[in-house]
Order: sequence, then structure tokens, then C-alpha cells
Amino acid sequence: MTSHTAPVETFDYLVFGGTGDLALRKLLPALYLRDKAGQITPESRILGVSRSQLSPADYKAKAEEALRRHLHKDDIDETTWGRFIDRIDYVAADATATNGWDQLQERLGGRDEIVRVFYLATSPELFGPISERLQAFGLVTPKSRVVLEKPIGHDLESARQINDEVGSVFAEEQIYRIDHYLGKETVQNLLALRFANSLFEPVWDAGHVDHVQITVAETVGVEGRGGYYDTSGALRDMVQNHLMQLLCLVGMEPPVSLDQESVRDEKIKVLRSLKPIGPENVAGCTVRGQYRAGAVEGAAVGAYAEEAGTAPGAKPSNTETFVALKVEIENWRWSGVPFYLRTGKRMPAKVSEIVIQFRQVPHSIFPKTAGEITPNLLIVRLQPDESIRLNLMAKDPGPGGMRLREASLNLSFAETFKFRFPDAYERLLMDVVRGNPTLFMRRDEVEAAWRWTESILDAWEARGDSVKPYIAGTWGPSQSVAMIERDGRTWHDDAMSNG
Ligand code: BG6
Repeated sequence: MTSHTAPVETFDYLVFGGTGDLALRKLLPALYLRDKAGQITPESRILGVSRSQLSPADYKAKAEEALRRHLHKDDIDETTWGRFIDRIDYVAADATATNGWDQLQERLGGRDEIVRVFYLATSPELFGPISERLQAFGLVTPKSRVVLEKPIGHDLESARQINDEVGSVFAEEQIYRIDHYLGKETVQNLLALRFANSLFEPVWDAGHVDHVQITVAETVGVEGRGGYYDTSGALRDMVQNHLMQLLCLVGMEPPVSLDQESVRDEKIKVLRSLKPIGPENVAGCTVRGQYRAGAVEGAAVGAYAEEAGTAPGAKPSNTETFVALKVEIENWRWSGVPFYLRTGKRMPAKVSEIVIQFRQVPHSIFPKTAGEITPNLLIVRLQPDESIRLNLMAKDPGPGGMRLREASLNLSFAETFKFRFPDAYERLLMDVVRGNPTLFMRRDEVEAAWRWTESILDAWEARGDSVKPYIAGTWGPSQSVAMIERDGRTWHDDAMSNG
């Protein structure tokens, strides 16, 4: 058995918000797949917890239905299935009252010595009250860990409050703030690319890099999450966490080791070096958009306003479903190198990519007839079709003089490793049991990311900024193109649409 499938210690995984979308769509399937991989000991259990008055049998039925829907049919085998369903149990408990908690006590009785994980897949206002009750009912053991799903708060103040409340029950080492992007294989591959190769690090700086683009595009709309999304928007939902984590991994200095503190110490330095975006530069450095009706992947889709369920006659929602930013890291390595970030719903393709564009050659020795020399690009495709590509200039083969052409070295992970790419949650859920928080966010990181994001939110509000429309199925509002083109640069959309 290889090390990534070595069994982890016996655990009780308590999933609060157990009937919610995240638990059913992501967490249970991820645990199932780890069970199938042989990583879960026979004595380990999974306990759904939520307010809904369901019996354990009802919950098992719900879980089965979700597993059938979200797992690939080839992953379903009878042995794992029976074993996994047997592990599942359910308790109805109210996060803001006392009913149900004695049943939880009972279920966990005599199991204090094993790893106990409280996964809080609930809205963030409940993180404090749940922690408080866990303590009051004596459920927090020395081997307990708590996992906090994003968003951690709505702004810096609410994030601090949540961190204080949870921190008064759990020690920082017991708190796992999850950002599922850090569990993606290719995101971790950024560490391998940068620090297991000597080739890139010497050119990973302002002397060699012209700019960086980070795009996380989705084709989906708000998918029945309108209530949450409309109070959040793309900046809070995607930038404050996922895109900033990617920015940190691209921009950070080499950590001394892969241990939890070293990596997180380097990431926080990036967050602290970000040039603030406030009233004076918000207009030039940010674009907010919201999709109108259009077509995505050949199917007609409605406008955000309809999907978010804005009542007829109500003030139109000003929530952004797209955001583009020009970000600068003010330190020696990156001085003057812009990082352009964008993310949006209802884009033409679901694709996440980081493009490092290197500087132009300083002087061309080739005649004009040889064609244009385009800058080298290192393209890290996070999803789908995980790959790392290096675009180089080459001679177009054949006689008739020198003609230059762009060509690509392509490391496709699927072709090279012939391996099923685990879902990000699979890795992270097991890291919690292993007690390895390297790929989780530390309190100071979350707060630094909020501090920086909040100044943008404040500046938008002060300007009375309204969202710019874009047609669903396009790469966002034209202002996003204008933002990067003002700097004489352009978004690399073609590469993304073509894969
Ligand atoms: C979540 C956001 O954190 O990430 C969602 O709340 C978004 O709005 C999702 O759709 C994207 O994740 P992935 O793994 O599909 O890129």
C-alpha cells in the first residue's frame, strides 16, 4: 500500500450542517473515496448533525442518495458501500439551543481517546455558538479538532469575533480553517514546481517576469445559493480566500521547510506586502461585473437578478458575480510586477489558470519577416485537465528562411501520471485526522486577507460603485479588458477557451 493510502488513526467525524449541500455533495463523497482507498479504520464513524428532525435511517437514506448522485458510478462497489453506510449515524441537535446535545454526549461516550473532528459546515455565525456548546457539554477532548468552512465572517471584525469565540474553546493548533483550493493537486504542485526545480526560482522575480495572471472562471451561476451569494459577492466568496491563497503560493519566498509554520509564515508576508487598494486607486485597479442573460456552453441561461431571486420591483442587486483586480506585491522580488486576478460566474469555460508571462527578449536578432517574438509563458492549469505548459519560441520547420513560431512543452498530469485526481476535500479531510495543518489557514492569514479585501469593499461603497453588466458566457465586462490593456497587456483568454 502506498503512503497516500496508508490508514489514518481511528476517528469520529462529526459534520455539523450534515444535511447541507457541502456535506452531501463534497464531504460524504470524499470520505467514501478515502474509505474505498483503504484509509479509514473499521472503528471510525461519521456522524451527521443538524437541526432537522431525522432518524439515523432517514439520514443514511439521504446520504445514499447524495453519494449515488455525486460519485462516479465506477467508484461505487458493494464492499465499500456497505461498510461506509454502516459508519454513518445522525443526531438532531440545535446549534443555538440545548436540545439534542445530550444525545451527542451519549453517542460519543467512551470514545474520548480517539481523534474527534468537528467539521462546521454551517453558516459562520454558528461557529461560536457550536464551539461554546461543545465545551459546555464536555465534548472537546485533547484529541479534538475543529474545521471551519469558509467564509470565516463577512469582514475583518466578524472574522476576528469568530476567531475569538472559537479560540476560547480550541487552541490554535486544533483549529483547521479550510480553503479547499489548497487541497487541489495542482495547487500543491505549485510548491513542487517552484521548490523542487532549480530552473524557475532564479527567474521568478521582477527582473524576469513581466506580469502574472490568475483566472478562476466558472460556468455555473449561483445554483440555488442566491441567499448567501447575494450578501457575499465574488470578492468575498472567491478572492478573499481562494485567489489570495494562489497569489501567496506564486509570490511567496521559499519557506525553509514544508512544515506548517514555515509555509504559512511566508504566505502571510505576501499578504502584508500587498499594496492597499483604497479610494485613490480603486477605480483603476478593480472592475466589478454582474451577468445578464446569455448562453453558456450552448445553453441559454438567465440573468443573475433572476437566479438570485430578486423580487420583482425590488431594488436591483448590486452584488458582483465577476471581479478583476490589479494587485501589486510591494517587496524586492516583485516590485513593479502586476498580478492581474479575475474570477467570475457564467464565464465561457470552467477553468482555473495561473499564467506567468516573462519579459520580452531585450533585442531581436531576427528579420521582421521571421514574425513576432512573443514572450514566454509558464501556464499552470489548475483545473480541469491539470497541466503545466511552457510556451517557447521555436523555428518553424522547413526551408525558406527563418520563421518563428510559438510552441509548447506540455506536462499533462493525467497523461504523465495516469492517476485519478482526488478531490481537494479528500486530502484535506485526512490531513485533519493526521493533525497536519500546513494546507489550512492560520488566524493571522485570514485576518490579513480580510484587512486587504475590506479596504476594497469600503472604497466601492464610498464611491457608490455599481456593477458593470456582462453577457453570460463571456469573459466579463469590457472594463476588465480595458483595465489590463491600459497597461499594454492582454488577458490570455484564447489559451483557456482552447484548453
Ligand atoms: C466555493 C465558492 O468556495 O468555491 C463557490 O463558494 C465556488 O461559489 C466554488 O463555486 C468553486 O470551487 P471549485 O473547486 O469548483 O473551483
